[in-house]
Amino acid sequence: MSYSFTSHERDVFKDLLTERFGLAFEEHRHRFLESGLAGRMEDCGIDSAAAYRRRIENDGDELSRLIDAVTNNLSRFFRNRGQLQAVTDFIVPEFTGGRAISVWVAGCATGEEPYSLAMTLADSLPESADFHITATDISRRALKIALAGTYSPRRARAVSESARTRYFSDDNGRLSVSASLRRRVSFVEHNVIEAPVVHDADLVLCRNVLTYLAPQARRAAIRTLRESIAAGGFLIIGNSETLPRGSGFNAITTPPARIYRRPCPPSE
Ligand SMILES: C[S@@+](CC[C@H](N)C(=O)[O-])C[C@H]1O[C@@H](n2cnc3c(N)ncnc32)[C@H](O)[C@@H]1O
Repeated sequence: MSYSFTSHERDVFKDLLTERFGLAFEEHRHRFLESGLAGRMEDCGIDSAAAYRRRIENDGDELSRLIDAVTNNLSRFFRNRGQLQAVTDFIVPEFTGGRAISVWVAGCATGEEPYSLAMTLADSLPESADFHITATDISRRALKIALAGTYSPRRARAVSESARTRYFSDDNGRLSVSASLRRRVSFVEHNVIEAPVVHDADLVLCRNVLTYLAPQARRAAIRTLRESIAAGGFLIIGNSETLPRGSGFNAITTPPARIYRRPCPPSE
């Protein structure tokens, strides 16, 4: 039998998750939150909300397992292909060479997005160009899957035959990301409302993450993203997300939408 929360008990957890991770649980997501909480309590053998609250205060690993239970980590290879095509068409030509290109994928979930971007960049940059992607998330479970880099054929169905041949190997019927692609991507646990882990990034992707954040956390996240991007660098957010005015980015009007650029300071 799963635990039945009072609204006060539920709100204690809801407020904690909003304060620490920015996660918003509006009314229509209360059941999702309660079911995640109840599942964790059951796994811990705890039958009171107060005792579970004490557990997560004293046990960071349990807090992390709760995060895993109440975040939506859904992702897909080549999700919104139009945006990745825009990376090839509009952003790559702006990379002028010299130092290695630095990319941050914030809210990378189970890895499909950074690996798709790595394939896109490897296929569109000149062979001499070097790039590295730092991919971050708050969900340890998702990061573990991302790091393992092995996906069922069903999950990898959007990967073309040609990309499969070049960037994956067979692992007992599953598709395993090749070493050449893995060395381009590192995975780090990071909360996007805190100080950035990447600085002077040329490109940042933060797609379908802002939508799960409370308004104040969304503003903090946008500040973090801006701080991480070099002048003239690019930001791509989810297709159904928008940046408020005054965020410090210019929208690139070339389709597809949701590509922004951090302005360069005016030259003297
Ligand atoms: C729906 S998935 C989107 C995955 C991927 N960006 C995509 O578009 O396919 C949202 C991800 O954001 C992560 N997330 C939520 N809040 C976060 C935060 N405060 N910091 C970092 N990641 C967060 C979740 O754990 C989840 O993996």
